[in-house]
Amino acid sequence: MDKIIIEGGVPLRGAVQVSGAKNATLPILASALLAEGDHLVRNVPDLADVRTMGRLLSHMGCTFERSADHHAASLRVPAAVLPEAPYELVKTMRASVVVLGPLVARWGRARVSLPGGCAIGARPIDLHLKGLEALGAEIELSHGYVTATAPGGRLKGADFTFDGQTVTGTENIMMAAALADGRSVLRNCAREPEVIDLAEALNRMGARIEGAGTDALRIEGVTSLRPLDHTVIADRIEAGTFMVAGALPGCDVEVRGCLAGHLEALIVKLRALGATVTEVAGGVRVTGDGRPRPVDVRTSPHPGFPTDMQAQVMVPLCLADGSSTVTETVFENRFMHVQELQRLGADISTDGKTAVVRGVASLSGAPVMASDLRASAALVLAGLAAEGTTEVLRVYHLDRGYERIEAKLAPLGARIRRGKE
Ligand code: UD1
Repeated sequence: MDKIIIEGGVPLRGAVQVSGAKNATLPILASALLAEGDHLVRNVPDLADVRTMGRLLSHMGCTFERSADHHAASLRVPAAVLPEAPYELVKTMRASVVVLGPLVARWGRARVSLPGGCAIGARPIDLHLKGLEALGAEIELSHGYVTATAPGGRLKGADFTFDGQTVTGTENIMMAAALADGRSVLRNCAREPEVIDLAEALNRMGARIEGAGTDALRIEGVTSLRPLDHTVIADRIEAGTFMVAGALPGCDVEVRGCLAGHLEALIVKLRALGATVTEVAGGVRVTGDGRPRPVDVRTSPHPGFPTDMQAQVMVPLCLADGSSTVTETVFENRFMHVQELQRLGADISTDGKTAVVRGVASLSGAPVMASDLRASAALVLAGLAAEGTTEVLRVYHLDRGYERIEAKLAPLGARIRRGKE
Protein backbone atom coordinates (compact mmCIF):
# COMPACT_ATOMS: atom_id res chain seq x y z
CA MET A 1 0.00 0.00 0.00
CA ASP A 2 1.13 3.54 -0.69
CA LYS A 3 1.83 6.21 1.88
CA ILE A 4 2.56 9.92 1.55
CA ILE A 5 5.64 11.27 3.31
CA ILE A 6 5.80 14.98 4.08
CA GLU A 7 8.61 17.07 5.56
CA GLY A 8 6.51 19.93 6.86
CA GLY A 9 7.09 23.54 7.74
CA VAL A 10 7.88 24.84 4.23
CA PRO A 11 5.51 27.65 3.15
CA LEU A 12 3.87 26.87 -0.19
CA ARG A 13 4.24 29.34 -3.05
CA GLY A 14 3.13 29.11 -6.66
CA ALA A 15 0.27 28.00 -8.88
CA VAL A 16 -1.62 24.72 -9.06
CA GLN A 17 -4.11 23.51 -11.67
CA VAL A 18 -7.42 21.98 -10.63
CA SER A 19 -8.72 18.79 -12.31
CA GLY A 20 -12.26 17.97 -13.41
CA ALA A 21 -14.81 17.37 -10.65
CA LYS A 22 -15.06 13.78 -9.43
CA ASN A 23 -18.59 14.30 -8.13
CA ALA A 24 -19.75 15.67 -11.49
CA THR A 25 -17.91 13.04 -13.55
CA LEU A 26 -19.45 10.01 -11.82
CA PRO A 27 -23.15 10.82 -12.45
CA ILE A 28 -22.35 12.18 -15.92
CA LEU A 29 -20.66 8.89 -16.89
CA ALA A 30 -23.68 7.04 -15.46
CA SER A 31 -26.01 9.21 -17.55
CA ALA A 32 -24.51 7.64 -20.68
CA LEU A 33 -26.70 4.62 -19.82
CA LEU A 34 -29.67 6.75 -20.91
CA ALA A 35 -28.63 6.58 -24.58
CA GLU A 36 -27.22 3.93 -26.85
CA GLY A 37 -24.19 4.97 -28.91
CA ASP A 38 -20.80 6.68 -28.62
CA HIS A 39 -20.34 9.14 -25.77
CA LEU A 40 -17.50 11.55 -25.07
CA VAL A 41 -16.74 13.22 -21.73
CA ARG A 42 -13.79 15.63 -21.37
CA ASN A 43 -11.95 17.04 -18.33
CA VAL A 44 -12.37 13.73 -16.53
CA PRO A 45 -10.05 13.43 -13.50
CA ASP A 46 -7.66 10.48 -13.36
CA LEU A 47 -8.93 8.96 -10.12
CA ALA A 48 -9.61 5.56 -8.61
CA ASP A 49 -13.36 6.33 -8.39
CA VAL A 50 -13.52 7.13 -12.11
CA ARG A 51 -11.77 3.83 -12.89
CA THR A 52 -14.33 2.07 -10.68
CA MET A 53 -17.18 3.70 -12.62
CA GLY A 54 -15.45 2.54 -15.83
CA ARG A 55 -15.33 -1.02 -14.48
CA LEU A 56 -18.99 -0.81 -13.51
CA LEU A 57 -20.05 0.37 -16.97
CA SER A 58 -17.85 -2.33 -18.55
CA HIS A 59 -19.51 -4.95 -16.33
CA MET A 60 -22.81 -3.88 -17.89
CA GLY A 61 -21.44 -4.44 -21.39
CA CYS A 62 -20.33 -0.90 -22.28
CA THR A 63 -16.91 -0.16 -23.74
CA PHE A 64 -15.04 2.38 -21.61
CA GLU A 65 -11.78 3.93 -22.82
CA ARG A 66 -9.58 6.77 -21.63
CA SER A 67 -7.47 9.05 -23.85
CA ALA A 68 -3.66 8.78 -23.55
CA ASP A 69 -3.60 11.56 -20.93
CA HIS A 70 -6.59 9.92 -19.16
CA HIS A 71 -8.59 13.16 -19.22
CA ALA A 72 -11.17 12.23 -21.83
CA ALA A 73 -13.41 9.20 -21.54
CA SER A 74 -15.15 7.61 -24.49
CA LEU A 75 -17.91 5.21 -23.87
CA ARG A 76 -19.90 2.99 -26.19
CA VAL A 77 -23.30 1.94 -24.87
CA PRO A 78 -24.56 -1.13 -26.79
CA ALA A 79 -28.13 -1.93 -27.85
CA ALA A 80 -28.60 -4.06 -24.73
CA VAL A 81 -26.88 -3.82 -21.35
CA LEU A 82 -26.76 -6.02 -18.25
CA PRO A 83 -28.62 -3.65 -15.88
CA GLU A 84 -26.72 -4.66 -12.76
CA ALA A 85 -24.28 -3.07 -10.27
CA PRO A 86 -22.65 -5.88 -8.26
CA TYR A 87 -21.66 -5.68 -4.60
CA GLU A 88 -17.93 -6.03 -5.42
CA LEU A 89 -17.99 -2.64 -7.16
CA VAL A 90 -20.64 -0.80 -5.11
CA LYS A 91 -18.81 -1.62 -1.88
CA THR A 92 -15.68 0.14 -3.14
CA MET A 93 -17.64 3.17 -4.36
CA ARG A 94 -20.92 4.16 -2.84
CA ALA A 95 -21.61 6.64 -5.66
CA SER A 96 -22.14 3.60 -7.95
CA VAL A 97 -25.78 3.97 -6.90
CA VAL A 98 -26.16 6.74 -9.53
CA VAL A 99 -26.59 4.05 -12.19
CA LEU A 100 -29.94 3.10 -10.66
CA GLY A 101 -32.02 5.96 -12.14
CA PRO A 102 -30.62 5.76 -15.69
CA LEU A 103 -30.85 1.94 -15.80
CA VAL A 104 -34.50 1.74 -14.79
CA ALA A 105 -35.45 4.72 -16.98
CA ARG A 106 -33.75 3.46 -20.16
CA TRP A 107 -33.76 -0.31 -19.73
CA GLY A 108 -36.88 -0.78 -17.59
CA ARG A 109 -35.05 -2.67 -14.87
CA ALA A 110 -32.09 -2.27 -12.53
CA ARG A 111 -30.49 -4.52 -9.96
CA VAL A 112 -28.07 -2.59 -7.77
CA SER A 113 -26.31 -3.70 -4.60
CA LEU A 114 -27.20 -1.70 -1.49
CA PRO A 115 -24.16 0.40 -0.56
CA GLY A 116 -24.22 -0.57 3.12
CA GLY A 117 -22.55 1.43 5.88
CA CYS A 118 -19.62 3.66 5.16
CA ALA A 119 -16.93 5.36 7.19
CA ILE A 120 -18.81 8.67 7.49
CA GLY A 121 -22.14 7.45 8.82
CA ALA A 122 -25.11 5.38 7.77
CA ARG A 123 -25.79 7.07 4.39
CA PRO A 124 -29.03 5.33 3.37
CA ILE A 125 -30.58 5.54 -0.14
CA ASP A 126 -34.22 5.64 0.99
CA LEU A 127 -34.80 9.01 -0.71
CA HIS A 128 -33.53 7.68 -4.05
CA LEU A 129 -35.97 4.77 -3.77
CA LYS A 130 -38.92 6.96 -2.78
CA GLY A 131 -38.26 9.18 -5.78
CA LEU A 132 -38.17 6.20 -8.14
CA GLU A 133 -41.39 4.85 -6.60
CA ALA A 134 -43.03 8.22 -7.20
CA LEU A 135 -42.08 7.81 -10.88
CA GLY A 136 -43.90 4.46 -10.87
CA ALA A 137 -40.99 2.07 -10.29
CA GLU A 138 -41.64 -1.11 -8.33
CA ILE A 139 -38.92 -1.57 -5.75
CA GLU A 140 -37.89 -4.83 -4.17
CA LEU A 141 -35.13 -5.35 -1.63
CA SER A 142 -33.66 -8.81 -1.26
CA HIS A 143 -30.28 -10.47 -0.70
CA GLY A 144 -28.61 -7.06 -0.27
CA TYR A 145 -29.78 -5.83 -3.66
CA VAL A 146 -32.43 -3.38 -4.74
CA THR A 147 -34.34 -4.30 -7.86
CA ALA A 148 -36.30 -1.51 -9.52
CA THR A 149 -38.70 -2.24 -12.36
CA ALA A 150 -40.65 0.16 -14.54
CA PRO A 151 -44.06 -1.42 -15.29
CA GLY A 152 -44.51 -1.53 -19.06
CA GLY A 153 -40.84 -0.59 -19.43
CA ARG A 154 -41.25 3.15 -18.87
CA LEU A 155 -41.37 5.41 -15.81
CA LYS A 156 -44.10 8.06 -15.48
CA GLY A 157 -43.60 11.75 -14.74
CA ALA A 158 -44.62 12.80 -11.23
CA ASP A 159 -44.61 15.58 -8.67
CA PHE A 160 -42.17 14.55 -5.93
CA THR A 161 -40.75 16.30 -2.88
CA PHE A 162 -37.52 14.98 -1.32
CA ASP A 163 -37.84 14.63 2.48
CA GLY A 164 -34.23 15.77 2.82
CA GLN A 165 -31.66 17.22 0.42
CA THR A 166 -29.55 14.59 -1.26
CA VAL A 167 -27.04 15.23 -4.02
CA THR A 168 -26.84 11.81 -5.68
CA GLY A 169 -30.55 11.27 -4.91
CA THR A 170 -31.44 14.42 -6.86
CA GLU A 171 -29.14 13.27 -9.68
CA ASN A 172 -30.64 9.79 -9.80
CA ILE A 173 -34.25 11.01 -9.96
CA MET A 174 -33.42 13.79 -12.42
CA MET A 175 -31.85 11.23 -14.79
CA ALA A 176 -34.82 8.91 -14.37
CA ALA A 177 -37.39 11.67 -14.98
CA ALA A 178 -35.54 12.79 -18.13
CA LEU A 179 -36.82 9.67 -19.96
CA ALA A 180 -40.14 9.27 -18.10
CA ASP A 181 -43.49 9.59 -19.78
CA GLY A 182 -44.76 13.10 -19.05
CA ARG A 183 -43.79 16.03 -16.85
CA SER A 184 -42.09 15.81 -13.45
CA VAL A 185 -41.62 18.44 -10.80
CA LEU A 186 -38.97 17.57 -8.20
CA ARG A 187 -38.89 19.71 -5.06
CA ASN A 188 -36.39 20.21 -2.24
CA CYS A 189 -33.64 19.24 -4.67
CA ALA A 190 -29.92 19.60 -4.00
CA ARG A 191 -28.46 22.76 -5.56
CA GLU A 192 -24.81 21.70 -5.80
CA PRO A 193 -22.84 22.81 -8.90
CA GLU A 194 -22.45 19.12 -9.82
CA VAL A 195 -26.25 18.81 -10.11
CA ILE A 196 -26.21 21.79 -12.51
CA ASP A 197 -23.38 20.26 -14.55
CA LEU A 198 -25.31 17.00 -14.87
CA ALA A 199 -28.48 18.86 -15.92
CA GLU A 200 -26.47 20.69 -18.60
CA ALA A 201 -24.97 17.41 -19.84
CA LEU A 202 -28.47 15.86 -19.99
CA ASN A 203 -29.94 18.86 -21.80
CA ARG A 204 -27.18 18.56 -24.42
CA MET A 205 -28.32 14.95 -24.85
CA GLY A 206 -31.80 16.27 -25.63
CA ALA A 207 -33.37 16.24 -22.16
CA ARG A 208 -35.72 19.05 -21.14
CA ILE A 209 -34.71 20.03 -17.61
CA GLU A 210 -35.25 23.46 -16.08
CA GLY A 211 -34.42 24.85 -12.67
CA ALA A 212 -31.06 23.17 -11.97
CA GLY A 213 -29.33 25.12 -9.20
CA THR A 214 -32.66 25.94 -7.54
CA ASP A 215 -34.54 23.58 -5.24
CA ALA A 216 -37.21 22.78 -7.88
CA LEU A 217 -36.51 20.89 -11.08
CA ARG A 218 -39.09 20.86 -13.87
CA ILE A 219 -38.51 18.03 -16.30
CA GLU A 220 -40.42 17.28 -19.47
CA GLY A 221 -39.79 13.60 -20.19
CA VAL A 222 -38.60 12.71 -23.70
CA THR A 223 -38.70 9.35 -25.48
CA SER A 224 -35.01 9.13 -26.34
CA LEU A 225 -31.72 10.93 -25.84
CA ARG A 226 -28.58 11.26 -27.97
CA PRO A 227 -25.09 10.38 -26.71
CA LEU A 228 -23.15 12.66 -24.37
CA ASP A 229 -20.68 15.29 -25.49
CA HIS A 230 -19.67 17.17 -22.40
CA THR A 231 -16.78 18.87 -20.59
CA VAL A 232 -16.90 18.42 -16.81
CA ILE A 233 -16.63 21.43 -14.46
CA ALA A 234 -13.59 21.98 -12.25
CA ASP A 235 -13.45 20.16 -8.92
CA ARG A 236 -14.44 22.74 -6.30
CA ILE A 237 -13.40 20.47 -3.43
CA GLU A 238 -9.92 19.84 -4.83
CA ALA A 239 -9.70 23.61 -5.48
CA GLY A 240 -10.92 24.34 -1.96
CA THR A 241 -8.29 21.99 -0.52
CA PHE A 242 -5.50 23.92 -2.31
CA MET A 243 -7.10 27.20 -1.19
CA VAL A 244 -6.89 26.05 2.42
CA ALA A 245 -3.21 25.21 1.79
CA GLY A 246 -2.77 28.80 0.61
CA ALA A 247 -4.37 30.10 3.79
CA LEU A 248 -1.75 28.44 6.02
CA PRO A 249 0.74 30.85 7.61
CA GLY A 250 3.27 32.22 5.12
CA CYS A 251 1.74 30.50 2.07
CA ASP A 252 0.71 32.07 -1.23
CA VAL A 253 -1.11 29.76 -3.65
CA GLU A 254 -2.84 30.51 -6.94
CA VAL A 255 -5.49 27.89 -7.68
CA ARG A 256 -6.01 27.80 -11.45
CA GLY A 257 -9.08 26.66 -13.28
CA CYS A 258 -11.53 26.93 -10.40
CA LEU A 259 -14.67 29.01 -10.20
CA ALA A 260 -14.80 31.32 -7.18
CA GLY A 261 -18.60 31.35 -7.46
CA HIS A 262 -18.68 27.67 -6.46
CA LEU A 263 -16.63 28.34 -3.34
CA GLU A 264 -18.20 31.41 -1.77
CA ALA A 265 -18.92 29.86 1.63
CA LEU A 266 -15.30 28.70 1.90
CA ILE A 267 -13.92 32.05 0.76
CA VAL A 268 -15.92 33.85 3.49
CA LYS A 269 -14.34 31.58 6.12
CA LEU A 270 -10.80 31.87 4.71
CA ARG A 271 -11.08 35.65 4.83
CA ALA A 272 -12.46 35.48 8.38
CA LEU A 273 -9.44 33.48 9.48
CA GLY A 274 -7.20 36.21 8.08
CA ALA A 275 -6.25 34.96 4.62
CA THR A 276 -6.31 37.27 1.62
CA VAL A 277 -8.41 35.82 -1.18
CA THR A 278 -8.42 37.48 -4.59
CA GLU A 279 -9.96 36.46 -7.86
CA VAL A 280 -7.30 36.44 -10.57
CA ALA A 281 -7.61 35.65 -14.28
CA GLY A 282 -8.62 31.99 -14.47
CA GLY A 283 -8.62 31.27 -10.77
CA VAL A 284 -8.25 32.37 -7.17
CA ARG A 285 -5.16 33.41 -5.19
CA VAL A 286 -5.00 32.77 -1.46
CA THR A 287 -2.34 34.20 0.84
CA GLY A 288 -2.03 33.20 4.47
CA ASP A 289 -0.71 36.27 6.21
CA GLY A 290 0.09 35.25 9.76
CA ARG A 291 -1.32 33.10 12.53
CA PRO A 292 -4.98 32.33 11.63
CA ARG A 293 -7.82 33.85 13.64
CA PRO A 294 -10.39 31.48 15.18
CA VAL A 295 -13.57 31.03 13.12
CA ASP A 296 -16.79 29.07 13.64
CA VAL A 297 -17.80 26.79 10.76
CA ARG A 298 -21.09 24.97 10.23
CA THR A 299 -21.59 22.65 7.28
CA SER A 300 -24.82 22.62 5.27
CA PRO A 301 -25.95 21.77 1.73
CA HIS A 302 -24.86 24.10 -1.08
CA PRO A 303 -24.61 27.10 -1.06
CA GLY A 304 -23.67 26.55 2.60
CA PHE A 305 -20.22 25.46 3.76
CA PRO A 306 -19.51 22.06 2.11
CA THR A 307 -19.19 19.04 4.37
CA ASP A 308 -16.47 17.87 1.97
CA MET A 309 -14.31 20.84 3.13
CA GLN A 310 -14.95 20.43 6.86
CA ALA A 311 -11.88 18.29 7.63
CA GLN A 312 -9.50 20.48 5.61
CA VAL A 313 -10.63 23.81 7.10
CA MET A 314 -10.00 22.39 10.55
CA VAL A 315 -6.24 22.46 9.84
CA PRO A 316 -5.74 26.26 9.91
CA LEU A 317 -8.14 26.37 12.87
CA CYS A 318 -5.79 23.98 14.73
CA LEU A 319 -3.13 26.69 14.41
CA ALA A 320 -5.40 29.64 15.20
CA ASP A 321 -4.90 32.19 17.91
CA GLY A 322 -7.96 31.09 19.94
CA SER A 323 -10.86 28.62 19.94
CA SER A 324 -13.14 27.76 17.00
CA THR A 325 -16.13 25.48 16.66
CA VAL A 326 -16.82 23.20 13.71
CA THR A 327 -20.36 21.83 13.45
CA GLU A 328 -21.13 19.01 11.02
CA THR A 329 -24.82 18.94 10.12
CA VAL A 330 -24.78 16.89 6.88
CA PHE A 331 -23.25 13.58 8.02
CA GLU A 332 -23.11 11.86 11.35
CA ASN A 333 -19.75 10.56 12.47
CA ARG A 334 -17.59 12.73 10.21
CA PHE A 335 -14.86 13.62 12.71
CA MET A 336 -12.51 10.69 12.19
CA HIS A 337 -9.70 13.09 11.27
CA VAL A 338 -9.85 14.60 14.77
CA GLN A 339 -8.01 11.73 16.47
CA GLU A 340 -5.31 11.82 13.84
CA LEU A 341 -4.94 15.62 14.05
CA GLN A 342 -4.54 15.16 17.80
CA ARG A 343 -1.58 12.88 17.07
CA LEU A 344 0.01 15.88 15.36
CA GLY A 345 -0.51 17.97 18.50
CA ALA A 346 -3.89 19.57 17.75
CA ASP A 347 -6.13 20.39 20.71
CA ILE A 348 -9.65 19.34 19.67
CA SER A 349 -12.58 17.89 21.58
CA THR A 350 -15.82 16.69 20.07
CA ASP A 351 -19.33 16.48 21.44
CA GLY A 352 -21.81 15.01 18.99
CA LYS A 353 -22.00 17.19 15.91
CA THR A 354 -19.61 19.85 17.22
CA ALA A 355 -15.84 19.96 17.52
CA VAL A 356 -14.13 22.62 19.61
CA VAL A 357 -10.72 23.40 18.16
CA ARG A 358 -8.37 25.25 20.51
CA GLY A 359 -5.54 26.68 18.44
CA VAL A 360 -1.97 25.67 19.24
CA ALA A 361 1.23 27.49 18.22
CA SER A 362 2.52 24.59 16.10
CA LEU A 363 1.85 21.01 15.03
CA SER A 364 4.49 18.29 15.06
CA GLY A 365 4.83 15.57 12.42
CA ALA A 366 3.83 11.97 13.17
CA PRO A 367 2.56 8.87 11.37
CA VAL A 368 -1.22 9.18 10.84
CA MET A 369 -3.89 7.01 9.28
CA ALA A 370 -6.33 8.21 6.62
CA SER A 371 -9.92 7.07 7.32
CA ASP A 372 -11.82 8.60 4.42
CA LEU A 373 -11.24 10.77 1.40
CA ARG A 374 -11.52 14.28 2.84
CA ALA A 375 -9.97 13.29 6.19
CA SER A 376 -6.89 12.20 4.23
CA ALA A 377 -6.68 15.56 2.51
CA ALA A 378 -6.82 17.26 5.91
CA LEU A 379 -3.95 15.08 7.13
CA VAL A 380 -1.85 16.06 4.10
CA LEU A 381 -2.51 19.76 4.83
CA ALA A 382 -1.68 19.25 8.49
CA GLY A 383 1.52 17.44 7.51
CA LEU A 384 2.52 20.41 5.34
CA ALA A 385 2.00 22.78 8.26
CA ALA A 386 3.62 20.56 10.92
CA GLU A 387 7.27 20.65 11.97
CA GLY A 388 9.16 17.49 11.01
CA THR A 389 8.01 14.37 9.19
CA THR A 390 4.42 13.21 8.76
CA GLU A 391 3.54 9.92 7.11
CA VAL A 392 -0.06 9.57 5.91
CA LEU A 393 -0.95 5.88 5.70
CA ARG A 394 -3.82 4.28 3.72
CA VAL A 395 -3.47 6.72 0.87
CA TYR A 396 -5.96 4.78 -1.25
CA HIS A 397 -8.67 6.94 0.33
CA LEU A 398 -6.90 10.05 -0.95
CA ASP A 399 -6.41 8.58 -4.41
CA ARG A 400 -10.17 8.12 -4.76
CA GLY A 401 -10.63 11.87 -5.00
CA TYR A 402 -7.30 13.67 -5.59
CA GLU A 403 -5.29 13.31 -8.75
CA ARG A 404 -1.63 12.75 -7.73
CA ILE A 405 -1.79 15.29 -4.92
CA GLU A 406 1.95 14.96 -4.26
CA ALA A 407 2.77 15.87 -7.89
CA LYS A 408 0.53 18.95 -7.63
CA LEU A 409 1.93 20.13 -4.29
CA ALA A 410 5.66 19.50 -4.92
CA PRO A 411 6.03 22.37 -7.47
CA LEU A 412 4.69 24.72 -4.78
CA GLY A 413 7.75 23.88 -2.69
CA ALA A 414 6.18 21.12 -0.60
CA ARG A 415 8.60 18.37 0.41
CA ILE A 416 6.19 15.57 -0.28
CA ARG A 417 6.61 12.15 -1.86
CA ARG A 418 4.88 8.82 -2.22
CA GLY A 419 6.36 5.69 -0.70
CA LYS A 420 5.37 2.13 0.23
CA GLU A 421 3.91 1.17 3.61
C1 UD1 B 1 -22.63 13.58 -2.24
C2 UD1 B 1 -21.16 13.66 -2.58
C3 UD1 B 1 -20.32 13.68 -1.31
C4 UD1 B 1 -20.80 14.79 -0.39
C5 UD1 B 1 -22.31 14.72 -0.17
C6 UD1 B 1 -22.85 15.91 0.60
C7 UD1 B 1 -21.07 12.53 -4.72
C8 UD1 B 1 -20.62 11.34 -5.49
N1 UD1 B 1 -20.81 12.52 -3.41
O1 UD1 B 1 -22.83 12.35 -1.56
O2 UD1 B 1 -18.96 13.89 -1.67
O3 UD1 B 1 -20.14 14.66 0.87
O4 UD1 B 1 -22.99 14.69 -1.43
O5 UD1 B 1 -22.51 17.10 -0.02
O6 UD1 B 1 -21.60 13.47 -5.28
N2 UD1 B 1 -29.56 10.76 2.98
C9 UD1 B 1 -30.64 10.02 3.41
N3 UD1 B 1 -31.30 9.25 2.51
C10 UD1 B 1 -30.95 9.19 1.20
C11 UD1 B 1 -29.86 9.94 0.76
C12 UD1 B 1 -29.18 10.73 1.67
O7 UD1 B 1 -30.98 10.06 4.59
O8 UD1 B 1 -31.61 8.46 0.45
C13 UD1 B 1 -28.83 11.62 3.93
C14 UD1 B 1 -27.35 11.18 4.10
O9 UD1 B 1 -27.25 10.16 5.06
C15 UD1 B 1 -26.71 12.47 4.54
C16 UD1 B 1 -27.50 13.54 3.76
O10 UD1 B 1 -28.72 12.92 3.39
O11 UD1 B 1 -26.88 12.68 5.91
C17 UD1 B 1 -26.83 14.07 2.52
O12 UD1 B 1 -26.36 13.00 1.73
P1 UD1 B 1 -26.27 13.07 0.15
O13 UD1 B 1 -26.40 14.47 -0.32
O14 UD1 B 1 -27.17 12.05 -0.42
O15 UD1 B 1 -24.78 12.58 -0.11
P2 UD1 B 1 -24.29 11.78 -1.36
O16 UD1 B 1 -25.12 12.15 -2.54
O17 UD1 B 1 -24.13 10.35 -1.00
